Amino acid sequence: MRRLLPALCGTALALAMAPAHAAGNAENGKLLTYTCAGCHGIPEYRNAYPNYHVPKIAGQNEGYLVNALKAYRIGDRQHPTMVAQASSFSDQDIADIAAYLAAQKAQ
Ligand code: HEC
Repeated sequence: MRRLLPALCGTALALAMAPAHAAGNAENGKLLTYTCAGCHGIPEYRNAYPNYHVPKIAGQNEGYLVNALKAYRIGDRQHPTMVAQASSFSDQDIADIAAYLAAQKAQ
């Protein structure tokens, strides 16, 4: 993972400099993550179900979030809820979501 990070940062930079739509659009990501809050508790980080374990996703590394969501989408990660969530997202949606979540402060 450590060796991967510089490569991811380079990619993010390249994407940020590419015209309009390649990079994650945090505004759109905010809209797309509306339904995530019920479980992940964004933006307050409070889980609506205290006895239900969910990972913190706001403030996470952007590249990590992209990889996680794509892994659910293709079934590499098999949590049924998250597979269902991720399966409806395009690459652009995932980039937007990651851009939004990564910009949130962990509390
Ligand atoms: C019904 C509850 C629920 C909803 C809604 C939900 N999640 Fe999750 N999410 C989970 C659970 C539970 C896990 C842990 C799954 C696992 O162990 O693989 C998880 C894991 C994740 C992870 C991996 C985090 C990590 O550290 O590995 C990401 C990223 C994520 N969710 C993003 C989202 C996004 C984005 C949305 C909205 C589009 C969303 N989730 C909606 C319950 C939910």
